Amino acid sequence: MASRFLLALLLLCPTIAQAWTLEGDRIEQPLTTHAGDATRGEAIVGSRTTGLCMLCHALPGGNERQQGNIGPDLTAVGKRLNEAQLRARMVASREINPASKMPGYFKSEGLINVSPTLHGVPILNAQQIEDVVAYLVTQTAR
Ligand code: HEC
Repeated sequence: MASRFLLALLLLCPTIAQAWTLEGDRIEQPLTTHAGDATRGEAIVGSRTTGLCMLCHALPGGNERQQGNIGPDLTAVGKRLNEAQLRARMVASREINPASKMPGYFKSEGLINVSPTLHGVPILNAQQIEDVVAYLVTQTAR
């Protein structure tokens, strides 16, 4: 009984991880039913332990010396990209651009060298992705 339950769970896992649809460069459908929280998203983006975005990106308000330039400057990214496009950048950067250097923040499949305790666990969970997207859409000033 228990093993049957586990098997069902295993079979379901890829479905859960792939619970999004990329249309062009957009993912229109939010990953969660709870709306993203821009304040939490800002904390994730600025965090040196969860988001690590500043390793590669610059953003206004951050400490200049700690900002990266591997990826595009995210100042006013909310003007260039809409919510669905930002969600797609977070979830499916490689599907949009196979040469993407942006980590797959919502990927839990096909990764190598992952500690057994982290198997099947994406870098950011669905709610954290939505929080980050909610924050990025507010970045419209230059
Ligand atoms: C290892 C470097 C790296 C990290 C870490 C990283 N990114 Fe990126 N990001 C990139 C690169 C490089 C691009 C340019 C397109 C590509 O390569 O996919 C990019 C593109 C983007 C874009 C599209 C910008 C545009 O103008 O088209 C957004 C939005 C973005 N990143 C947000 C984030 C956020 C939010 C985080 C943290 C949660 C993050 N990135 C972490 C490297 C990174």
